[in-house]
This record gives sequence, structure tokens and C-alpha cells, in this order.
Amino acid sequence: MRKKITIVGVGHVGATTAQLAAYKELGDVVLIDIIEGVPQGKGLDLQESAPLELFDSNIMGTNDYKDTANSDIVVITAGVPRKPGMSREDLLNTNVKIVKSVTEQLAKYSPNAFVIVVSNPLDAMCYVAMKVGNFPRHRIIGLSGVLDSARMRSFISMELNVSMDDVHAMVMGLHGDSMVPLPRYSTVSGISITELMSREKIEKIIERTKNGGGEIVNLLKTGSAYYAPGSAIVQMIESILKDKKRVLPCAAYLDGEYGMKGVFMGVPLKLGIKGIDEIIQLKLTDNEMASLHKSAEEGKKTISQIKL
Ligand code: APR
Repeated sequence: MRKKITIVGVGHVGATTAQLAAYKELGDVVLIDIIEGVPQGKGLDLQESAPLELFDSNIMGTNDYKDTANSDIVVITAGVPRKPGMSREDLLNTNVKIVKSVTEQLAKYSPNAFVIVVSNPLDAMCYVAMKVGNFPRHRIIGLSGVLDSARMRSFISMELNVSMDDVHAMVMGLHGDSMVPLPRYSTVSGISITELMSREKIEKIIERTKNGGGEIVNLLKTGSAYYAPGSAIVQMIESILKDKKRVLPCAAYLDGEYGMKGVFMGVPLKLGIKGIDEIIQLKLTDNEMASLHKSAEEGKKTISQIKL
């Protein structure tokens, strides 16, 4: 039987994710949004691309959560995106309300689903979804490091003029200004970039990575990034549904790992059909660990402002 993927919020990120998931035939896709007509219209349009792109996923658009029942994976992209000058934290109050109401419905109709949270501020929205939906921590995963490290990989590849195929990067911490890009664990064909680039160039790449989302918000003026987020979400969906056990940096609820508890943080984890199979604990230097703990403190501060 085909897997069922529900995407909540059919704006830029949701629609791009649906398109890529359908092209890869990861399952049938249900699109749901608060606006009437939009999920139905985008769903039908995408379905009509099937004979051209040759995929056999069924796509449906709806405003009724009954149609999402028994989903294998739900992706929460509902919410408002940033405008220039805004941080992800500025979205907190609006998106808490939206993610809370969405999660109540998802938990009612798909209590056994894996949940991928995308709405920002990401790490706080993961917390809202976990608390409201009462999902176990191995089934709730946030889009953070896969996107942030894709940005870092792009910048490394552009700087060194090497194939994207050979570039890996590791970005941990919150999906925000305090994220922690780790050059020691960022490589070209296994060679750490610390051996391939000057410290100044690495610093520039770190800063550009941290501001990667903001750079695009400033260019777009209305709305935030969606091509790279869509690709990153689909990589996570694929790793879970195909039990690929890819090792990807994603936001997970920590319960003692890296000496932290009670906060969602981007950490390398193994993603398979059980959801989070394992959280991988890197041997960080004192400085790297201090940056990670600083990031966690910011996450805790944001969580403390949430009223559910
Ligand atoms: N239920 C369902 N859908 C909702 C709800 C709700 N309660 N509230 C808003 N939406 C929908 C909107 O109608 C819109 O179609 O969420 C969609 C958001 O789409 P965009 O405005 O295009 O935003 P997008 O760029 O997709 O970003 C969505 O992802 O990356 C994050 O920061 C970003 O939080 C933002 C989210």
C-alpha cells in the first residue's frame, strides 16, 4: 500500500514539498490549508502534471482534517513567514496559535504519524507540537540542520569550486542566529574544510550560513525561502519512509544528550522507519560545546514565553 503524506499549509514551502514528494513517488499526498480552494486548486494542478512527469502519486486538496486520517507522515508548514528585518522569534505568538490548532487536529486523526515541523521559530514550534499532540520524541523531528547544512554545503562548494556531490557540512543548534556550524565536521571527500580554506574564509561561510534564511528574506521582500526547505523536507520524508537510516542534522527533543534536557536542538541523528533511530553524540571541543549550550539557552528562553 502507498504511504500517506499530509502537508499542512499549502503556501510556498508546502506546495514545493508536495511537488518534490510526488515526483519522487514517496506516497499519496494530502494538502490541507485554512484557505478554501487553495489546497484543492494546487492539488489538482499538481495531479495534472502526473502524465507529464510520469508519477503515480495521488494528490488531494482539502480543508477537512478527516481526509488526513491515518497519515504516515504529517508535515506542518502552516504559519506566517518572515518579512525583512524580522527574526524567526518575531513569529512566535502568531505561529504558536496556528501550530497548536493544527496539531490538535493532526493528533486526533493521525495519532501514529511521524511529525515533521517546519513552521518558525522552528525549535519552539516543535515543542508546541510535541506537547499539544502528545507525540513521543522519536516521532517528532524539526527541519533545521538539513537546510542549514545544505546552505553551508552550497557556500563551500562555491568557494572551492568543487562538485556539490563531495561536500558535506554539519550544522547543529537552534534553527536561528545561534546555530552552530561545525567546520571540523564539514568535509570535501572526507577532507575537513579546515585543511582546505583559510580561517577567514571559513568565518565568512559560517556567518553567511547563520544568516542564510535572512539573506533570502531580504531579497524576496515578501516571504521566506522555499526551494531548499522543500528539498530538505523531502530528504527527511524519504529517509523515514524508505528506512534509509540517513544521518542528518535535524531538531530533536533532547533528554540528556549533549548534557541538555527539555529543549529541541539540531543534532545529527539517524532517521528511519522508527523515526529517530539514534541521536549521534559527537565529541565536541569545549568551545563547540559552549556554543551549543548558548544556543540551547536561547531555545529555553523562547519556550518559556509559550502559553499553551
Ligand atoms: N491551518 C492550515 N493552514 C494555515 C493555517 C492554519 N491554521 N494558518 C495559515 N495557514 C497556511 C496559509 O493559508 C498559507 O497557505 O499556511 C500557509 C503558509 O504559506 P506561506 O505564507 O507561503 O509561508 P511559507 O513560505 O510556506 O512558510 C511557512 O514555514 O519556513 C517556515 O517561517 C516559515 O513559518 C513559516 C512556514
